[in-house]
Amino acid sequence: MAAVGRLPGAAAALLLALLCLAGTSAATNVTYDHRALVIDGVRRVLVSGSIHYPRSTPDMWPGLMQKAKDGGLDMVETYVFWDAHEPVRGQYDFEGRNDLVRFVKAAADAGLYVHLRIGPYVCAEWNYGGFPLWLHFIPGIKFRTDNEPFKTEMQRFTEKVVATMKGAGLYASQGGPIILSQIENEYGNIDASYGAPGKSYIRWAAGMAVALDTGVPWVMCQQADAPAPLINTCNGFYCDQFTPSLPSSPKLWTENWSGWFLSFGGAVPYRPTEDLAFAVARFYQRGGTLQNYYMYHGGTNFGRSSGGPFISTSYDYDAPIDEYGLVRQPKWGHLRDVHKAIKMCEPALIATDPSYMSLGQNAEAHVYKTGSLCAAFLANIDNQSDKTVTFNGKAYKLPAWSVSILPDCTNVVLNTAQINSQVASTQMRNLGFSTQASDGSSVEAELASSTWSYAVEPVGITKENAMTKPGLMEQINTTADASDFLWYSTSIVVAAGEPYLNGSQSNLLVNSLGHVLQVFINGKFAGNV
Ligand SMILES: *[C@@H]1O[C@H](CO)[C@@H](O)[C@H](O)[C@H]1NC(C)=O
Ligand SMILES: *[C@@H]1O[C@H](CO)[C@@H](O)[C@H](O)[C@H]1NC(C)=O
Ligand SMILES: *[C@@H]1O[C@H](CO)[C@@H](O)[C@H](O)[C@H]1NC(C)=O
Ligand SMILES: *[C@@H]1O[C@H](CO)[C@@H](O)[C@H](O)[C@H]1NC(C)=O
Ligand SMILES: *[C@@H]1O[C@H](CO)[C@@H](O)[C@H](O)[C@H]1NC(C)=O
Repeated sequence: MAAVGRLPGAAAALLLALLCLAGTSAATNVTYDHRALVIDGVRRVLVSGSIHYPRSTPDMWPGLMQKAKDGGLDMVETYVFWDAHEPVRGQYDFEGRNDLVRFVKAAADAGLYVHLRIGPYVCAEWNYGGFPLWLHFIPGIKFRTDNEPFKTEMQRFTEKVVATMKGAGLYASQGGPIILSQIENEYGNIDASYGAPGKSYIRWAAGMAVALDTGVPWVMCQQADAPAPLINTCNGFYCDQFTPSLPSSPKLWTENWSGWFLSFGGAVPYRPTEDLAFAVARFYQRGGTLQNYYMYHGGTNFGRSSGGPFISTSYDYDAPIDEYGLVRQPKWGHLRDVHKAIKMCEPALIATDPSYMSLGQNAEAHVYKTGSLCAAFLANIDNQSDKTVTFNGKAYKLPAWSVSILPDCTNVVLNTAQINSQVASTQMRNLGFSTQASDGSSVEAELASSTWSYAVEPVGITKENAMTKPGLMEQINTTADASDFLWYSTSIVVAAGEPYLNGSQSNLLVNSLGHVLQVFINGKFAGNV
């Protein structure tokens, strides 16, 4: 202020005016029509990718956002993790890896939009689907249905998130990056089992969300009966055949599975780059205008945050950016090239609907043509044979299971099966840390001498916590989520002369939803599964 005071009057006024301008970003108007999201009056073709903030560290966020931007993304999609933000009822945590405001700002700093998927049930291979433990113990509560105690808590948390975002000015209507928001999550996959209360719950959730007045559209994914103005969106490996249930809704793909999650004991997931690129191109070919990679960066399930049977601590997902934040080639580079080719078609894609043209068996074209604009996608959907097709009197060679993109209806700028981006030869090196000790104590010594830390979780059958009860226990009620392990033990006495013990080939058959089985015969370990 002192410095301003020494300036001549006119200059001071100008400087103040500039300061004011920098302080208020312009609002962005986000709506939609049957083709696309409409941003400031213009339909947009958008590419999005999921990055979940608690699955990386805040110092990684700017780098991840920049790699997403450089990879041709327009938008980052994240769930909001209720249990992380409200571990104790009414006590909120928005710090460190839970600093959602900082994460959204990091996206904005890289020039990316944000799709905020509040849920607050999120699934996400996350502990208890994101529900905090205390929710389980609210008297009379029934999750995800027309139940007053549940709706009260869901609304309170949703309002808290929206207020936090509004407080930081992060909605597009306030000049921020959030252009889209989701309520509930894949409820349409299970709502039949809830009957009429499930239907009224969805109507309530939609109304509750819209009343929060964020100024940006809301979606429900996998919810065919999502009430207007909510948009029903698709999740899956392929969504090109998806049609929104309301004719006024655009075709949006909220989860394109870039790979799959890893479970302990399972194979390391791998989705070929060519197949992913094919599915992406097919989606835009057949009228889609927003596609999201689930995941673009999968990251790490820290602590006990992973949920579901045997989900590993790595949530790498075979994503275009690997668990460590490094680009995965050729996936990242080839998809960047695919995004560039699709963006070259954007003027035609937003101007009109596609018209379909057969190019022979298992080959088809979709053409976006109006006035002087023309873009075309030529697809060979035969997964075995290459083809040569004729389009507009010209011959085009299409490898099996591929799409060629022609932003001018004549020249192919990219075929999804032909990878031109550089193939990196990343080599992982062991930095000298070893756990190959034969006994427990030396492993501990090694861990203590490094910068690694570890947690001990009691595993096994202990006498101290043992109890006897006929039948199965309710897991959360019994463990209070302090452990993932709940061991049942039972014994049966097999009388001599039982026919099934005859011979050496006897098999023990156990029908079980449990994950691990240990068998002892006469006190001697006999095997496990
Ligand atoms: C926002 O955009 C829609 C559609 O383009 C338009 O009808 C509406 O008037 C706009 N609203 C504002 C506040 O500019
Ligand atoms: C979805 O992603 C998969 C793999 O990530 C890809 O093979 C597929 O082509 C994608 N589909 C669309 C329509 O984007
Ligand atoms: C290839 O296509 C055929 C015919 O549509 C289908 O039955 C088969 O499962 C496909 N194979 C693969 C590997 O996708
Ligand atoms: C589990 O339920 C029983 C009976 O409803 C209750 O007494 C007990 O406190 C519950 N356990 C926990 C960890 O809350
Ligand atoms: C056991 O198997 C033998 C022949 O394999 C048979 O003779 C005998 O009767 C069987 N015993 C019982 C109890 O089923």
